[in-house]
Amino acid sequence: MFRNAAAVSLQLVGSLQGRKAGASVTRCLHQTVSALTLHSAHGRPQRTMAKRLQARRLDGIDDNPWVEYSRLVTEYDVVNLGQGFPDFPPPDFAVEAFQHAVSGDFMLNQYTRAFGYPPLTKILASFFGKLLGQEIDPLSNVLVTVGAYGALFTTFQALVDKGDEVIIIEPYFDCYEPMTLMAGGRPVFVTLRPSPPEDGKLESSGDWRLDPTELASKFSPRTKVLILNTPNNPLGKVYSRAELELVAGLCQQHDVVCVTDEVYQWLVFDGHQHISIASLPGMWDRTLTIGSAGKTFSTTGWKVGWVLGPDRLMKHLRTVHQNSIYHCPTQAQAAVAQSLEREQQHFGRPSSYFVQFPQAIQRCRDHMMRSLQSAGLRPVVPQGGYFLVTDISDFKNRMPNLPGDGDEPFDRRFVKWMIKNKGLAAIPVSVFISAPHQKNFDHYIRFCFVKDEATLQAMDKRLQKWKEELRA
Ligand SMILES: Cc1ncc(COP(=O)(O)O)c(C=O)c1O
Repeated sequence: MFRNAAAVSLQLVGSLQGRKAGASVTRCLHQTVSALTLHSAHGRPQRTMAKRLQARRLDGIDDNPWVEYSRLVTEYDVVNLGQGFPDFPPPDFAVEAFQHAVSGDFMLNQYTRAFGYPPLTKILASFFGKLLGQEIDPLSNVLVTVGAYGALFTTFQALVDKGDEVIIIEPYFDCYEPMTLMAGGRPVFVTLRPSPPEDGKLESSGDWRLDPTELASKFSPRTKVLILNTPNNPLGKVYSRAELELVAGLCQQHDVVCVTDEVYQWLVFDGHQHISIASLPGMWDRTLTIGSAGKTFSTTGWKVGWVLGPDRLMKHLRTVHQNSIYHCPTQAQAAVAQSLEREQQHFGRPSSYFVQFPQAIQRCRDHMMRSLQSAGLRPVVPQGGYFLVTDISDFKNRMPNLPGDGDEPFDRRFVKWMIKNKGLAAIPVSVFISAPHQKNFDHYIRFCFVKDEATLQAMDKRLQKWKEELRA
């Protein structure tokens, strides 16, 4: 729709002028446009500085592999199964709640309480209080953030100090590592390893397990935080009660805070059950539970997230929040509050989105698995979440010399080749693995299956063509 930032500003100026916007707003937007024009006419920033510009906390984290895949996706004609967002509409009740927030009470256009719009913190407290079996106070045990990303960043900044160790279970949602580093912490990795499936069965994300002895060996007197993600991105692993008890026991034994990223909690398949580690005995007091309205209601653009936890931890998150973001968008919070209130009324019933959504998405998962298998790819069946990981070792054996930079892991070269030659975009799993271990996990790629039927059919066509080429 808009080609560049200048066009966006011009469009905004136009529409604001049409509505008799205040002169100062219009002037400010005009300034944006002329500054851009000046900048692009010279083709470089006007002033240069001899001083080092970037803060040292950015050292080692400025190389982000996502940038390259995002660029390739725009350059080639691809079916984009890389990034994790639904390409279908959110449920009607959520859209209506947002419309109501925008067109109803005009005060929703203004700042709200810094730590969360009160009706939202109230419903989060009552909804999750029941699920976690915990009395949750909306004022001291809930913080609303800009997405789960914001929740994670606030948490790391609040808890991790220079030299503190953070245990990260790999493969991991990739921002955990840079967020640890930016806070001055030291990531300590422990690996989920696959065990072979039973004869004739597809591998499952449940076959990827932690070795209890290895996990225990990662705890030290410097360990401050362990970060858990269930259902996990990228594997779709849903941790069992026994696995959570193992993690909980070690956190208690070593006096460690457990940060648990549960953004995909409603998406569990095949009768698996999501269990929040905060609900285990003795864990509420040392756990921060992170959620996302984006993943909950298929509204990733709203960027509403939250953290739940005991006040002794939350008060430090509030300090970071009030000195960084301070207020989150009010209308989006109001829409999430109303949607959660709706879900509370329908909870556990067939009419609930939290019942219907996983059923619909399991069908998408099964569709994608069948299709990938037909082209010789070997999916690892995810127990939950947005993604499935596919084993590409057969391709690694058949075409080990795909073009790429020097030591570039095979999965990264494969994804680039697939985007350019097969018109399908995925994400290499090595981006979710710590650098020293990437070579051991360079034969997996990640697809997002939370996609519309039309997208999945477009994928089928490309895979069908690929299959015919393989036969030829
Ligand atoms: C495991 C995990 N945590 C957090 C997030 C971020 O969620 P949000 O979009 O609410 O910031 C994502 C997004 O992909 C994710 O996969």
